[in-house]
Amino acid sequence: MIAAGSGEGSAGRAAPPPTLDALIVGAGFSGLYQLYCLRDRLGLSVEVLEAADGVGGTWYWNRYPGARCDSESHTYCYTFSKELLQEWEWTERYPAQPEILRYLNHVADRFDLRRNIRFNTRVTAAHYDEVANLWRVTTGQGERLTTKFLITAVGCLSTANVPRIPGLETFRGRWYHTGQWPHGGVDFTGKRVGQIGTGSTGIQSAPVIAESAAHLTVFQRTANYSVPARNAPLTPEFKRHVKETFPEIRRLMNGNPNGHAFVIEDRSVFDVTPEQRQAIYEAAWKRGGLQFRATFRDLVQSKAANDTAAEFLKGKIREIVKDPKTEAILSNIDHPYAAKRPPIDTDYFDTFNRRNVALVDLRATPIEAITPAGIRTSDKEYPLDIIVFATGFDALTGQLLRMEIRGRDGLGLAEAWTAGPRNYLGLQVVGFPNLFTVTGPGSPSVLCNMPVAIEQHVEWITDCIAHMRDHAIERIEPRPEAMNSWIEQVNAAANATLLPLAAHSWYLGANVPGKPRVFMPYAGGMARYRGICNEVATDGYRGFAMSR
Ligand SMILES: Cc1cc2nc3c(=O)[nH]c(=O)nc-3n(C[C@H](O)[C@H](O)[C@H](O)COP(=O)(O)OP(=O)(O)OC[C@H]3O[C@@H](n4cnc5c(N)ncnc54)[C@H](O)[C@@H]3O)c2cc1C
Ligand SMILES: NC(=O)c1ccc[n+]([C@@H]2O[C@H](COP(=O)([O-])OP(=O)(O)OC[C@H]3O[C@@H](n4cnc5c(N)ncnc54)[C@H](OP(=O)(O)O)[C@@H]3O)[C@@H](O)[C@H]2O)c1
Repeated sequence: MIAAGSGEGSAGRAAPPPTLDALIVGAGFSGLYQLYCLRDRLGLSVEVLEAADGVGGTWYWNRYPGARCDSESHTYCYTFSKELLQEWEWTERYPAQPEILRYLNHVADRFDLRRNIRFNTRVTAAHYDEVANLWRVTTGQGERLTTKFLITAVGCLSTANVPRIPGLETFRGRWYHTGQWPHGGVDFTGKRVGQIGTGSTGIQSAPVIAESAAHLTVFQRTANYSVPARNAPLTPEFKRHVKETFPEIRRLMNGNPNGHAFVIEDRSVFDVTPEQRQAIYEAAWKRGGLQFRATFRDLVQSKAANDTAAEFLKGKIREIVKDPKTEAILSNIDHPYAAKRPPIDTDYFDTFNRRNVALVDLRATPIEAITPAGIRTSDKEYPLDIIVFATGFDALTGQLLRMEIRGRDGLGLAEAWTAGPRNYLGLQVVGFPNLFTVTGPGSPSVLCNMPVAIEQHVEWITDCIAHMRDHAIERIEPRPEAMNSWIEQVNAAANATLLPLAAHSWYLGANVPGKPRVFMPYAGGMARYRGICNEVATDGYRGFAMSR
């Protein structure tokens, strides 16, 4: 498609690097597969730029104690290669971070991807040159590259959110964010540890930290539900079953709103008696995992239905936690079950029965400052040696807006999105031709088992670029009316669920002060979204303006 650069420089000057067909930012699940598709399926010239010194994205950065998946291992993987599916063996129901990182390294080696990835290279700016119809990309080292297509695979949960608490710089101990964990690990032995945050991450890390720390204080702002993961090694029978029946498993994942391989029961909470409901919840609690959400079809749509699950789960906290004051703080949950991403855990609530663990209710006694000696709330000072920030991410838009992306007429993405992210199908933004965003806002992404969402996006982008090549189309960009209509659909899909009721959720950007409060992912379900994207493509890329 694009001819290689002429290579002719004036005497004494190095020739500019040839223009790439596609430049991909990020070498996690998304970037690796996008590279494979564009390079090996379409034969394009492609480079990946990755800030880290290795592949893996989320699983490269999040090395905190207890880090593991909440998608079941046989579904948290690529499905594009039969050979890869047959040769890779997961060991546990929910793989831990090192195993997933091994898997992604294996994929990079198996498909010979590394030769087109530049590590330790952060993209700092990308400017669209309308005359040349190219993206001019700048890296942190000041290097400049040009590319026809720019594809961001920068992750939805990849910008660590360290809250600006006054005094952090004065702290005499050490502090860490879970999403930027030191590769050598952290030794908690004999230490007084404070953990801020009780989302999926904090719920995984607290039980493990408590095992080695002298004392752990968990600082909780919003109380959270959690269902036991019931993690266990996979049996040889299960492994065989998965290999033999993968096409059916894949069909199930692709047909589901959430991309997981479990069936959402087609019954309402109110189709059964209270006794039957209790038995259904008990069985789901024993089985563990995110399937708890799938016990009834109306749990995330009807507040009355949701209340029954919420009450059941709060009851479990009361049963497990022995100290009445602690139990009351943990079960004082102010939002519907699954309105925030529901965590699953191993011994989280039981951890508060340990003698070396204490809970602080930040709603009652907010943090005022970090002092040289520890954390001071409105009530008292907690002396600490280590602070763990399990405080989440500037989700969905964080990495996109950190790069200085400028489209036509110098329009900045940050300006275009002042009131929140706006795009068409979560894939493209008006004013930014030939820029594609993988699993960004406006797509199901984080509401889904993400490899399913990633494969769908990457394949759609690949097909779109192939279509452009085959029809000598040089430029693609959404039409403003298509983008506006999509934003309405994203809002309508969210409003048909209980998800916007969790006012402090990162789905709404509420965890980052100053971020616009807009429900960002598409909540209409992965299967429906895939259908819409396919229809748009079949209908001649309806809603996109394409030009030669
Ligand atoms: C702790 C944790 C657990 C999770 N568990 C699950 C789970 O169980 N199931 C599930 O479905 N999802 C889970 N997720 C979501 C997870 O992020 C996705 O499943 C998936 O790994 C995302 O892959 P990605 O390639 O899109 O993004 P990432 O894995 O985030 O990779 C993005 C990459 O882009 C790089 N990058 C970003 N900006 C730049 C730049 N400007 N220049 C160069 N490089 C850049 C980053 O360094 C990173 O390596 C979890 C997320 C977290 C944080
Ligand atoms: N596979 C898994 O099991 C797994 C594990 C980890 C992460 N993840 C993914 O990553 C997402 C993010 O999870 P996360 O736990 O890292 O982040 P999170 O869900 O955003 O949780 C962050 C926690 O930190 C608290 N917090 C943030 N700022 C604070 C402040 N200034 N003071 C006090 N408390 C503060 C939040 O309280 P508020 O609720 O009050 O804001 C919340 O309890 C998950 O939802 C999930 O999608 C998955």
